Amino acid sequence: MDFGMKNRLSHIINPKTGKTVMLAVDHGYFQGPTTGLKDLRKTVTPLIPHTDCLFITRGMVRNCIDPGSDVAICLRVSGGPSILGELSNEDITTSMEEAIRLNASGVGMSIFVGAKNEDRTITNLGRLVNEAERYGMPVLAVTAVGKEMGREARYLALACRMAAEIGAHFVKTYYCEDFYKVVEGCPIPIVMAGGKKIPERDALQMTENAIKEGASGVDMGRNIFQSDNPVGMIKAIRAIVHKGASVDEAFEIYSKK
Ligand code: 5RP
Repeated sequence: MDFGMKNRLSHIINPKTGKTVMLAVDHGYFQGPTTGLKDLRKTVTPLIPHTDCLFITRGMVRNCIDPGSDVAICLRVSGGPSILGELSNEDITTSMEEAIRLNASGVGMSIFVGAKNEDRTITNLGRLVNEAERYGMPVLAVTAVGKEMGREARYLALACRMAAEIGAHFVKTYYCEDFYKVVEGCPIPIVMAGGKKIPERDALQMTENAIKEGASGVDMGRNIFQSDNPVGMIKAIRAIVHKGASVDEAFEIYSKK
């Protein structure tokens, strides 16, 4: 890995802890103005001081993020279908030049394993990695698995391993039973997506489990910005990810208004 690639990656994954708290706010790229992100600037601004890296589209970076902020940016560069269409029918929407212009520390796209268009999303990942390597730009593969496959370790392990084989530099996937098996088969860092909003204590427990089983952090959205205390929640997640706090300690941090 050359200097540029390592340096960008170190803006996302803290070299001191080997972990990251990424805040995912890219949902609008197929869901539109989803709950909690209708006014993205208002939601995200108070969370930025507690965030290592935003996962976000270029349009929202340009319109809603203060350029003076030192938060790292991982740019979602895939898209196409809306929530009303076939979600796997994605292509690359944002150029590498744009990612560099926006001073991104990484780029990310979804792969859909076991779904329609599986092969195209995988070859798109290969193309993105080929281009990203030329500029020292880390690539995040976001794993989605076909509906009939479910979020089980054997399928998530398949998707994560495929992402690593194709050359992604880090991968995002969901928590599942036997998550450690997903980690075992994947030589690149794994960050955990949060999924649908669940009670805060459960989300903290899921985070602790994922970290204990080998995750390199989180790329979490709804369980932070849809919480009744988003700042408390991201601080609590941070305490688990970077400081090894227990769920009880983290819940206390979340509970402080
Ligand atoms: C959607 C994404 C989102 O960033 C991902 O779902 C993370 O957000 P959440 O924690 O809300 O699930 O990549 O494809």
